[in-house]
Amino acid sequence: MSFCGIAEVVINQKVGPEHYLMRILAPELTRLAKPGQFVHVRCSSVLDPLLRRPISLHGIDYERGTVSLLYQVVGRGTQLLSEMKPGAEIDIMGPLGKGFSIPDRANRVLVIGGGIGVAPLFPLVQALKRYKIKQTVLLGARSADFVVGADQLASLEVRVEVSTDDGSLGYKGFVTDLAEKHVKLNKPDYFFACGPNPMLKQLLKITRKFGLAGQVSLEERMGCGVGACLACVCKIKVASGRCSVAGVNEGAPIDFEYKKVCTDGPVFAASEVILDD
Ligand SMILES: Cc1cc2nc3c(=O)[nH]c(=O)nc-3n(C[C@H](O)[C@H](O)[C@H](O)COP(=O)(O)OP(=O)(O)OC[C@H]3O[C@@H](n4cnc5c(N)ncnc54)[C@H](O)[C@@H]3O)c2cc1C
Ligand code: FES
Repeated sequence: MSFCGIAEVVINQKVGPEHYLMRILAPELTRLAKPGQFVHVRCSSVLDPLLRRPISLHGIDYERGTVSLLYQVVGRGTQLLSEMKPGAEIDIMGPLGKGFSIPDRANRVLVIGGGIGVAPLFPLVQALKRYKIKQTVLLGARSADFVVGADQLASLEVRVEVSTDDGSLGYKGFVTDLAEKHVKLNKPDYFFACGPNPMLKQLLKITRKFGLAGQVSLEERMGCGVGACLACVCKIKVASGRCSVAGVNEGAPIDFEYKKVCTDGPVFAASEVILDD
């Protein structure tokens, strides 16, 4: 049973060119929170914008009862979020969705974040550390300014490597190129990833070529956040069968089915995800 109600903004500070870190005091929500889950927030106290916005749990502090959100301002909702002051009340729902699960057989994992996809990886990396699993974190961004969270991850004493599209920091090129090098040379036995769909698509090509299993966190536009509106469906492979989602080709023969990112995900097994162009 998730929390839905008013919480207090404790911190809301700029941490990058378009990036903010918000800490929210919400003990009931925090108590239930797991890495990879998200919250659905109202960005304004008036009705516009009407829809909540999904934001991943970037930090979970069980002792203080706070969760942190790392978000990038891309439109009206996130702009309004960035204007909230400490002490403000925020209407928040969560934790929502299915987060990351740590498989027994993982010993040496690759954790890959593209852009703001780094946000949900921090609590995952902390959990992997608790399980004493060796990990290398790869972060990709368009340029040095847009690399967020690298120092924070490095402070956890895990190996962090950065790639930038323009070469202004770390490896010059896409984080997927860096990932391919690691898969070939270091032979990780599992991976976790979050980032934009083109990045995930390329990463799935690579990891499938090398038979590397993993989990990916997907992003889709959302409406309700709780499985009721079908705004967030994604394609998931099935051996054979018929489409089961009412109103979306229901009953048609399929080798995939639609799943809801908000309740069936956002984290899915990499082997089952289909990302169309
Ligand atoms: C499960 C989940 C977790 C997320 N976690 C984070 C996070 O931790 N930090 C963060 O900054 N963002 C995160 N996002 C994306 C975030 O929800 C959107 O950026 C936000 O809703 C945009 O709202 P807006 O009103 O500012 O922009 P809008 O005006 O609604 O949109 C601006 C632009 O962003 C694109 N966009 C909007 N929503 C999404 C989306 N869900 N996926 C991809 N593109 C989108 C639009 O197509 C448009 O181009 C997450 C999304 C999901 C589904
Ligand atoms: S956002 Fe409504 S079903 Fe997922």
